[in-house]
Amino acid sequence: DASLREDVKARLRDVPDFPKPGILFKDVTPVLADPHLFRRVVDAMAAPFQGQRIHRVVGVEARGFLLGAPIAMALHAGFVPARKPGKLPWRTRTERYALEYGEDGLQIHEDAMGPEDRVLIVDDLLATGGTAQAASRLVTQLGAQVVGFSFLISLDFLPGRQRLGADKVCALLSY
Ligand code: PRP
Ligand code: MG
Repeated sequence: DASLREDVKARLRDVPDFPKPGILFKDVTPVLADPHLFRRVVDAMAAPFQGQRIHRVVGVEARGFLLGAPIAMALHAGFVPARKPGKLPWRTRTERYALEYGEDGLQIHEDAMGPEDRVLIVDDLLATGGTAQAASRLVTQLGAQVVGFSFLISLDFLPGRQRLGADKVCALLSY
Protein backbone atom coordinates (compact mmCIF):
# COMPACT_ATOMS: atom_id res chain seq x y z
CA ASP A 1 0.00 0.00 0.00
CA ALA A 2 0.95 3.67 -0.20
CA SER A 3 2.28 3.95 3.36
CA LEU A 4 4.58 0.95 2.83
CA ARG A 5 5.90 2.49 -0.40
CA GLU A 6 6.58 5.77 1.41
CA ASP A 7 8.38 3.96 4.24
CA VAL A 8 10.55 2.00 1.78
CA LYS A 9 11.37 5.13 -0.22
CA ALA A 10 12.42 6.88 2.99
CA ARG A 11 14.78 4.00 3.86
CA LEU A 12 16.30 3.31 0.42
CA ARG A 13 19.68 5.00 0.18
CA ASP A 14 20.68 6.62 -3.11
CA VAL A 15 24.44 6.33 -3.60
CA PRO A 16 25.78 8.41 -6.50
CA ASP A 17 28.59 7.06 -8.70
CA PHE A 18 28.49 3.48 -7.35
CA PRO A 19 29.75 1.06 -8.59
CA LYS A 20 30.78 3.32 -11.50
CA PRO A 21 30.66 7.07 -12.22
CA GLY A 22 27.24 8.15 -13.46
CA ILE A 23 25.29 5.31 -11.80
CA LEU A 24 22.86 6.15 -8.96
CA PHE A 25 22.85 3.01 -6.81
CA LYS A 26 19.71 2.09 -4.86
CA ASP A 27 21.03 0.63 -1.60
CA VAL A 28 18.46 -1.73 -0.04
CA THR A 29 20.50 -2.62 3.06
CA PRO A 30 18.75 -0.04 5.32
CA VAL A 31 15.40 -1.65 4.39
CA LEU A 32 16.68 -5.13 5.28
CA ALA A 33 18.15 -3.88 8.57
CA ASP A 34 14.80 -2.52 9.80
CA PRO A 35 13.04 -5.51 11.43
CA HIS A 36 9.45 -4.33 10.96
CA LEU A 37 9.98 -2.86 7.48
CA PHE A 38 11.79 -6.00 6.25
CA ARG A 39 8.83 -8.16 7.27
CA ARG A 40 6.31 -5.80 5.64
CA VAL A 41 8.34 -5.76 2.39
CA VAL A 42 8.57 -9.56 2.29
CA ASP A 43 4.83 -9.94 2.93
CA ALA A 44 3.96 -7.34 0.27
CA MET A 45 6.25 -8.91 -2.35
CA ALA A 46 4.71 -12.33 -1.65
CA ALA A 47 1.09 -11.14 -1.47
CA PRO A 48 0.23 -11.11 -5.21
CA PHE A 49 1.34 -14.76 -5.41
CA GLN A 50 -0.45 -16.11 -2.32
CA GLY A 51 -2.96 -18.70 -3.49
CA GLN A 52 -1.19 -19.12 -6.84
CA ARG A 53 0.26 -22.50 -5.86
CA ILE A 54 3.91 -21.43 -6.13
CA HIS A 55 6.17 -24.47 -5.56
CA ARG A 56 9.58 -22.82 -5.95
CA VAL A 57 10.97 -19.32 -5.53
CA VAL A 58 14.13 -18.64 -7.55
CA GLY A 59 16.34 -15.96 -5.98
CA VAL A 60 18.99 -14.36 -8.19
CA GLU A 61 22.51 -13.99 -6.77
CA ALA A 62 23.27 -11.96 -4.81
CA ARG A 63 20.62 -9.52 -3.67
CA GLY A 64 17.77 -11.72 -4.87
CA PHE A 65 18.79 -14.28 -2.21
CA LEU A 66 18.05 -11.80 0.57
CA LEU A 67 14.43 -11.31 -0.48
CA GLY A 68 13.78 -14.62 -2.24
CA ALA A 69 14.40 -16.89 0.75
CA PRO A 70 11.95 -15.17 3.15
CA ILE A 71 9.39 -14.78 0.32
CA ALA A 72 9.65 -18.55 -0.31
CA MET A 73 8.85 -19.16 3.35
CA ALA A 74 5.90 -16.73 3.22
CA LEU A 75 4.52 -18.68 0.23
CA HIS A 76 5.26 -22.11 1.79
CA ALA A 77 7.44 -22.73 -1.28
CA GLY A 78 10.95 -24.10 -1.67
CA PHE A 79 13.88 -21.79 -2.38
CA VAL A 80 16.21 -22.28 -5.36
CA PRO A 81 19.33 -20.16 -5.92
CA ALA A 82 20.26 -18.96 -9.42
CA ARG A 83 24.00 -18.38 -9.09
CA LYS A 84 26.87 -16.84 -10.99
CA PRO A 85 28.83 -19.48 -12.98
CA GLY A 86 31.05 -21.88 -11.07
CA LYS A 87 29.38 -21.49 -7.66
CA LEU A 88 26.94 -24.43 -7.63
CA PRO A 89 28.41 -27.85 -6.78
CA TRP A 90 26.02 -30.21 -8.60
CA ARG A 91 24.99 -30.57 -12.26
CA THR A 92 23.77 -27.27 -13.66
CA ARG A 93 22.03 -25.56 -16.56
CA THR A 94 23.50 -22.26 -17.76
CA GLU A 95 22.12 -19.12 -19.40
CA ARG A 96 24.25 -16.21 -20.58
CA TYR A 97 23.03 -12.61 -20.72
CA ALA A 98 24.41 -9.34 -22.03
CA LEU A 99 25.76 -6.61 -19.76
CA GLU A 100 26.49 -3.02 -20.71
CA TYR A 101 30.02 -4.21 -21.46
CA GLY A 102 30.47 -7.94 -22.10
CA GLU A 103 28.32 -10.72 -20.71
CA ASP A 104 27.60 -12.70 -17.56
CA GLY A 105 25.79 -15.91 -16.78
CA LEU A 106 23.51 -17.64 -14.30
CA GLN A 107 23.31 -21.30 -13.37
CA ILE A 108 20.74 -23.47 -11.61
CA HIS A 109 20.86 -27.05 -10.33
CA GLU A 110 19.23 -29.27 -12.91
CA ASP A 111 17.27 -31.22 -10.27
CA ALA A 112 15.95 -28.12 -8.47
CA MET A 113 12.56 -28.22 -10.23
CA GLY A 114 10.66 -30.00 -12.97
CA PRO A 115 7.63 -29.92 -15.28
CA GLU A 116 5.11 -30.01 -12.41
CA ASP A 117 6.50 -26.89 -10.75
CA ARG A 118 5.04 -23.38 -10.68
CA VAL A 119 7.82 -20.86 -10.08
CA LEU A 120 8.20 -17.26 -8.87
CA ILE A 121 11.41 -15.36 -9.71
CA VAL A 122 12.58 -12.78 -7.13
CA ASP A 123 15.19 -10.03 -7.28
CA ASP A 124 15.74 -6.64 -5.66
CA LEU A 125 15.80 -4.60 -8.86
CA LEU A 126 14.48 -4.80 -12.42
CA ALA A 127 16.54 -2.69 -14.81
CA THR A 128 17.13 -3.93 -18.39
CA GLY A 129 15.59 -7.29 -17.48
CA GLY A 130 18.56 -9.28 -18.77
CA THR A 131 19.23 -10.93 -15.42
CA ALA A 132 15.62 -11.90 -14.73
CA GLN A 133 15.15 -13.10 -18.30
CA ALA A 134 18.15 -15.42 -17.91
CA ALA A 135 16.64 -16.76 -14.66
CA SER A 136 13.35 -17.29 -16.49
CA ARG A 137 15.08 -19.23 -19.28
CA LEU A 138 16.74 -21.48 -16.67
CA VAL A 139 13.31 -22.33 -15.22
CA THR A 140 12.00 -23.03 -18.73
CA GLN A 141 15.03 -25.23 -19.51
CA LEU A 142 14.01 -27.47 -16.60
CA GLY A 143 10.47 -27.72 -17.93
CA ALA A 144 8.92 -25.69 -15.09
CA GLN A 145 6.49 -22.78 -15.46
CA VAL A 146 7.34 -19.15 -14.63
CA VAL A 147 4.18 -17.83 -12.96
CA GLY A 148 5.61 -14.38 -12.33
CA PHE A 149 8.35 -12.06 -11.11
CA SER A 150 8.47 -10.06 -7.87
CA PHE A 151 10.87 -7.12 -7.51
CA LEU A 152 11.34 -4.54 -4.79
CA ILE A 153 12.14 -1.85 -7.38
CA SER A 154 11.43 -1.57 -11.09
CA LEU A 155 13.10 1.06 -13.28
CA ASP A 156 10.32 1.68 -15.77
CA PHE A 157 12.35 4.02 -18.00
CA LEU A 158 14.21 0.84 -19.05
CA PRO A 159 12.66 -2.01 -21.08
CA GLY A 160 12.77 -4.73 -18.39
CA ARG A 161 9.06 -4.87 -17.64
CA GLN A 162 8.19 -5.24 -21.35
CA ARG A 163 10.89 -7.85 -21.91
CA LEU A 164 9.55 -10.09 -19.17
CA GLY A 165 5.88 -9.58 -20.06
CA ALA A 166 4.24 -6.73 -18.13
CA ASP A 167 1.38 -8.92 -16.88
CA LYS A 168 3.83 -11.21 -15.04
CA VAL A 169 5.82 -8.48 -13.28
CA CYS A 170 5.07 -7.15 -9.78
CA ALA A 171 7.16 -4.39 -8.19
CA LEU A 172 6.65 -2.61 -4.88
CA LEU A 173 8.24 0.62 -6.16
CA SER A 174 8.55 1.95 -9.70
CA TYR A 175 10.77 4.78 -10.90
C1 PRP B 1 21.72 -6.01 -10.13
C2 PRP B 1 20.37 -6.21 -9.49
C3 PRP B 1 19.69 -7.17 -10.44
C4 PRP B 1 20.26 -6.78 -11.80
C5 PRP B 1 19.26 -5.97 -12.58
O1 PRP B 1 22.53 -7.11 -9.81
O2 PRP B 1 20.51 -6.79 -8.20
O3 PRP B 1 20.04 -8.51 -10.18
O4 PRP B 1 21.44 -5.98 -11.54
O5 PRP B 1 19.79 -5.56 -13.82
P1 PRP B 1 19.16 -5.96 -15.21
O6 PRP B 1 17.65 -5.92 -15.06
O7 PRP B 1 19.66 -4.88 -16.12
O8 PRP B 1 19.66 -7.30 -15.58
P2 PRP B 1 24.10 -7.15 -10.03
O9 PRP B 1 24.37 -7.80 -11.34
O10 PRP B 1 24.66 -5.78 -9.82
O11 PRP B 1 24.66 -8.14 -8.93
P3 PRP B 1 24.41 -8.38 -7.34
O12 PRP B 1 22.94 -8.59 -7.11
O13 PRP B 1 25.19 -9.62 -7.10
O14 PRP B 1 24.93 -7.18 -6.59
MG1 MG C 1 21.47 -8.69 -8.56
